[in-house]
Amino acid sequence: MKKVSTVILAAGEGKRMNSALPKVLHRFCGRSLLGHVVAAASQVSSDLIVVVGHGADSVQAQLGDSVRYAHQKQQKGTGHAVMQAAELLPREGTVLILCGDTPLLSAEILFALLTEHNNKNTAVTVLTAVVPNPAGYGRIVRTAAGAVQKIVEEKDASLKEKEITEINTGTYVFAAAPLHAALKLISNNNAQGEYYLTDCLEILLKQGFALSSHCLDDYRLALGVNDRAQLAEAGSLMRERINTQLMAAGVTIVDAAATYIDAGVEIGRDTIIYPGAILAGATTIGEECAIGPFCEISHSQIGSRVTISHSVATESVMDDDVSVGPFAHLRPGTRLRKGVKVGDFVEIKKSDIGEQSKIPHLSYVGDAQIGSEVNLGAGTIVVNYDGREKHVTNIEDGAFIGCNSNLVAPLSIGKGAFVAAGSTITKDVPAGALSLARPKQVNKENMGKRFLKKQ
Ligand code: UD1
Ligand code: CA
Repeated sequence: MKKVSTVILAAGEGKRMNSALPKVLHRFCGRSLLGHVVAAASQVSSDLIVVVGHGADSVQAQLGDSVRYAHQKQQKGTGHAVMQAAELLPREGTVLILCGDTPLLSAEILFALLTEHNNKNTAVTVLTAVVPNPAGYGRIVRTAAGAVQKIVEEKDASLKEKEITEINTGTYVFAAAPLHAALKLISNNNAQGEYYLTDCLEILLKQGFALSSHCLDDYRLALGVNDRAQLAEAGSLMRERINTQLMAAGVTIVDAAATYIDAGVEIGRDTIIYPGAILAGATTIGEECAIGPFCEISHSQIGSRVTISHSVATESVMDDDVSVGPFAHLRPGTRLRKGVKVGDFVEIKKSDIGEQSKIPHLSYVGDAQIGSEVNLGAGTIVVNYDGREKHVTNIEDGAFIGCNSNLVAPLSIGKGAFVAAGSTITKDVPAGALSLARPKQVNKENMGKRFLKKQ
């Protein structure tokens, strides 16, 4: 395929969103609207130019220097927006133009559009769709013979034109030279007083160029997000696409409508995702895992044969054969090595738990380095914070911590040490030692009845 430069229009405010955030930064499935568009476009084009205006700083902060920018200070329409990018565009070659608010157009669709354009070799190829409800979109006006004549915006359309159900998706491939020529001739003589990019088509036709079109098989992918209802609709269509792809790759999703997986999450074969799973960000999950029901896992790397139920994990790493939950909270910096078991009501933060170690019930573990085959009894609390600073706890291989112990950091507990239940440990425990740190028990014969209610 010839070199393609791409312009993405993202300067508009998006008034219909009724939001302080620029429209193109609204998110679903782990990416902003613009993020989805950039992800698809970057697969077919290595030269991306984003037209920014409203909220330019936040848009640029999100995309960084992966793209070039053109600035549109006042939003005078889509044609005006492309004019601002004109000097960054080549004079010859192919220009793909996309809206920052049509997030469902995939790289495959863009590739098909570019291929069609190359084959037909016209001045412009517009991507269209036949939709059940065309309200709000520009309509594709064709001649009796079926050739594209022009695009008319909803607000400028006659009653008859409003009946047309073939719409402009806002996506076009132009030959660069005629695009530059047409941009110079657009006027703002229309219902909205804007410079419409869509007018380029009629202008080119009048100059004797041929136009072509490519119609989407699945009209739903043309969805332009202008308000929150469309944002929700786009999110649900994208989730459906992600789930379908994962199922084709061998993942069982028990209830796809109740499963929320971000774009880019990787899941291995024969893993089962139960209802209520939210898998977000740069998360990878291996094979034969059981995830859910009710898990929120973000930015985490998970090995194979891992089970996690009713739990939250953020920026955590789990090796193979780990089991977590129900009701565990793994906070950033948690590393669970092979075969670790973390049970119910356990919170772990910034800690490395060695192979085959167990933290089965009711514990807090923070800033700890724990060796292999360590057992933390029910209710073990790592006291990592003295009110001013965080301190580190080291527990070596094979140590056994009895139930309801407080381990006051900084602290080291040696290999194979045994801490008696109910101890508050404030000093290091040498390898192999038994450590008791609790008051001795006193039993007073027959005194119990004094404390019981009178019968
Ligand atoms: C546009 C098309 C319409 C098409 C629809 C597809 C025009 C005139 N209309 O209408 O035919 O059916 O998209 O979704 O092109 N933008 C700028 N600068 C501006 C104006 C807009 O950068 O001055 C950007 C917006 O941020 C947005 C995109 O261009 O990402 C489309 O603008 P929008 O106002 O949503 O156009 P529509 O009315 O949806
Ligand atoms: Ca739009």
